[in-house]
Amino acid sequence: MALKLTVIGAGYLGTTHAACMADLGYEVLALDVLPDRVDRLAAGDLPFYEPGLPEVLQRNLASGRLRFTTSYAEIAEFGDVHFVCVGTPQQKGDYAADVSHLDAAFSALAPLLTRECLIVGKSTVPVGTADRLAAKLADLAPSPDVALAWNPEFLREGFAVQDTLHPDRIVVGVRSARAEEVLREVYTHQIAEGIPFLTVDFPTAELVKVSANAFLATKISFINAMAEVCEATGADVTMLSKALAFDDRIGAKFLGPGLGFGGGCLPKDIRAFMARADELGVDQALSFLREVDAINIRRRLRMVDLARALLNGSFQGRKVCVLGAAFKPNSDDVRDSPALDVAAAIREEGADVTVYDPQALDNARKVQPTLSFGASALEAAQGSDIVLLLTEWQEFRDLDPEMLGSLVAARNVVDGRNALDAEVWRAAGWTYKALGRP
Ligand code: UDX
Repeated sequence: MALKLTVIGAGYLGTTHAACMADLGYEVLALDVLPDRVDRLAAGDLPFYEPGLPEVLQRNLASGRLRFTTSYAEIAEFGDVHFVCVGTPQQKGDYAADVSHLDAAFSALAPLLTRECLIVGKSTVPVGTADRLAAKLADLAPSPDVALAWNPEFLREGFAVQDTLHPDRIVVGVRSARAEEVLREVYTHQIAEGIPFLTVDFPTAELVKVSANAFLATKISFINAMAEVCEATGADVTMLSKALAFDDRIGAKFLGPGLGFGGGCLPKDIRAFMARADELGVDQALSFLREVDAINIRRRLRMVDLARALLNGSFQGRKVCVLGAAFKPNSDDVRDSPALDVAAAIREEGADVTVYDPQALDNARKVQPTLSFGASALEAAQGSDIVLLLTEWQEFRDLDPEMLGSLVAARNVVDGRNALDAEVWRAAGWTYKALGRP
């Protein structure tokens, strides 16, 4: 009998995991506590933008392999393996992760577990959480055959389906041979493909995830620190990055200089990691992450300074076109978005800011209602004194500088993502500025 899977928390991670597991042939029942979300998903309506995922969702709903519910009793009865995918956001007014959704999920599920099953945590958590939750399960679950495993998820928004079906590696934190055996069965397709499967203890599994994100954030802030040095010396950080990348010990990925990182993971995960290190008394080990965070925030301020300087020192009464609201291209996610942060700061200084993004306008409107929004890049640029490229969507890279130039009041552009061809834009009469370049 094939294993029956459940997924708890139908957010980004949970919905993707549920749909992809169903696509591999498993029967999957996914739970969310929000009835509206469950209704939308059950109708095949994905509440966020993720290329390729609507098709996977819809074909597995149609086949009947994927279903959604709000009932913990139903999933407890159904599942052999329960994946817990609830969010662990940054706490308000604090760096630490808020694990209350995770505790609520375990408290709701555990007392209903009357048969053998495996609970698999996928949420990103402070190291030590799995140990604590294992004790909670032992206390609350009626069946003695309930085990816990920790299986961090490394998916990127925009590549969520690909990353779930064909991850770089699968890491499982387990305490028993049986738990490992069940997870090897769940991931049999990936293992057959040759994807590395690493079995570790709980704290190591938890740490692989947060240290991977800390490393990625550090790489981005490293190159952005070099951009600051380039700005002081007249060097070009894009050429510097290109030259560094030929050393394959350094590598080209995540060495893209610009406005820096945002989103629902990297910023909050490095902060939560620092908070946890403080609690563990090893804060010195991670003090460099404070600098990583600070460099990242400074890029946003630098962007505002560059734009202001191009407008002769003041945004008062000026019209600013902002291209991009999502924290990165191919996403509608505006959580901790550098683009929106910059747009809001410029609005604060008295500019009339019009933002355009191919996917993130609805979300952007909710968090920054005082900004104006255009229906296209051309509409947003109409009559503007300056154009700021803040998220590197392909459609912005493809903009025709001549055509755009005919709409604006002044041909000023700041390329916050080093995404445009400076020579082409200058040849079309634009004053082109970019972060980290002369
Ligand atoms: C990240 C991790 O990549 C993923 O493994 C983890 O599971 C969740 O967090 P995601 O938040 O989807 O994924 O975004 P990612 O593609 O990693 O980009 C993060 C941010 O870094 C974006 O704001 C992006 O614009 C920025 N970035 C990325 C750079 O500024 N420069 C780069 O070279 C690469």
